[in-house]
Amino acid sequence: MARQVHVNGRWLPEGEASVSVFDRGFLMADGVYEVTSVLDGRLVDFAGHMARLRRSLAALSMDLPLDDAALLALHREAVARNALSEGMVYLQVTRGAPPERDFAWPDPPVPPTLVLFTQAKPGLARGPERGIGVISIPDLRWARRDIKTVQLLYPSWGKMIARGRGADDAWMVEDGLVTEGTSNNAWIVAGGRLVTRPPSEAILSGITRAAVLRLVAEAGLSLEERPFTLAEAQAADEAFVTSATTFVLPVVRIDDRPVGGGSPGPVAARLRALYVEEARRSAV
Ligand code: PDD
Repeated sequence: MARQVHVNGRWLPEGEASVSVFDRGFLMADGVYEVTSVLDGRLVDFAGHMARLRRSLAALSMDLPLDDAALLALHREAVARNALSEGMVYLQVTRGAPPERDFAWPDPPVPPTLVLFTQAKPGLARGPERGIGVISIPDLRWARRDIKTVQLLYPSWGKMIARGRGADDAWMVEDGLVTEGTSNNAWIVAGGRLVTRPPSEAILSGITRAAVLRLVAEAGLSLEERPFTLAEAQAADEAFVTSATTFVLPVVRIDDRPVGGGSPGPVAARLRALYVEEARRSAV
């Protein structure tokens, strides 16, 4: 059966779902999104993702006339209609489709465009057998990376540069410091401490990152929230990334230098197990 996609209040088979060519998401990347993972047919960190969606919308003065209960119902319907057990729900909101292309925001505003679809990812909880290799690239994104906008050209390009160099992903570097991965937050374990960059406009404040920080505190592990250099990461005992689509994923190579002997380390493995357990327990 065709995947069922939600567009502005209607559920449609994916081949029939469409938005206007005047949609500002299409013309100007004037839209925001969230990716919420699904385990056992339930939504992981749902409240966190919706709170960040509200922050992204507010930052861009965008309106979405649906409360969290309505958004939860839509997410659950997406999961149910598509019999999704493991994978993710993608939600996108744009500033809508005014009658003309114009740089100025439509005044009066037009209704936002809301789209939800699912993607199955069997084996999401089990995770990959091996860690990933990353390369470093300059961070050429705009300066408001705390807003989860759909302008993903550079992250997408970055992943292709990585692939072209035989790696799985790229870590972006600015002023000599790692900002984050193209679609994940970056962490290292050095001198018995976890290190990850604090939230600011320079990175997306990851919902998985926040959950892992809670687990780090509960497990009594030591933590430093500060930026780190690439050299520090290459010399670290472990490195890993966090995101809704990868949970906790070890990084075993950075720019052709093996990290921690080139195999996944115990801290990342432990945090991954704790995260998956907590995600299953608290999913809604
Ligand atoms: N990306 N940093 C960036 C730039 C991201 O795009 C993401 C998520 C994260 C991690 O955030 P979270 O833990 O809330 O998923 C950090 C999603 C998964 C994506 O674009 O598919």
